[in-house]
Amino acid sequence: MIDTHCHLDKKLYEDIESVIKKMDMNKMIAAGVDYDSSKEVVKLVNAYTNIYGVIGFHPEEVDKYTENFLPFLEENLKQPKIVGIGEIGLDYHYTKETKDKQITIFKQQLDLARKYHKTVVIHSRDALEDTLEVIKEYLDVKMVFHCFGYSLEVAKILLKYNVMFGIGGVVTFKNGKKLKEVVKEIPLDRLLLETDSPYLTPEPYRGEKNEPYNILYVAEEIAKIKGLSIKEVLDVTTENAIRQFDLLI
Ligand code: NI
Repeated sequence: MIDTHCHLDKKLYEDIESVIKKMDMNKMIAAGVDYDSSKEVVKLVNAYTNIYGVIGFHPEEVDKYTENFLPFLEENLKQPKIVGIGEIGLDYHYTKETKDKQITIFKQQLDLARKYHKTVVIHSRDALEDTLEVIKEYLDVKMVFHCFGYSLEVAKILLKYNVMFGIGGVVTFKNGKKLKEVVKEIPLDRLLLETDSPYLTPEPYRGEKNEPYNILYVAEEIAKIKGLSIKEVLDVTTENAIRQFDLLI
């Protein structure tokens, strides 16, 4: 199994070692959200063979953004185990007032993804129009919509582009009907499994702290929705992840 999106900062878990140990036979892609967490991702990929990383500046964190982040990002993109830029994007839910800054920083990071042929992991919430407008200028860049939360109509637009869909615990929620419909319609070869740990814990553990091993419950739900075996879902989505992030396995 590959959890294509999780946050493994030490401060987020009581016992990060055991969380990582549980994934010994599997792989994870740790994501950064700001300078500090991205530095931690770089440390993790060097310390564990089964951890890859994406580093980047999250739209809700742009207040903390400083110009010295870009040279750090560029330097580390040269490492083969840093497999993308993320999570980056636009979020107007709580932080609409930083809209202009979010767009500027999103584009700066997309430019680097283009230069280094890396995948971008996009976080987009309540910012659909602007997100579409920005990505239309970067359709040559490989993209993942992390924790996809928009409608089926939007998914159909994105299916025409070079975009993969990150699906996590929300698909298991009883009130996750909209996402279940989307997952039913998107071909399996366009889906990636993710947990977004420690957030968005799938059923039956909703309410507890999430961890990458719970990717199994996401796979189980997708199998149920699509009428496939769990093995089929795991096999295809693992292939998808290897292809999307050029993982050296
Ligand atoms: Ni995340």
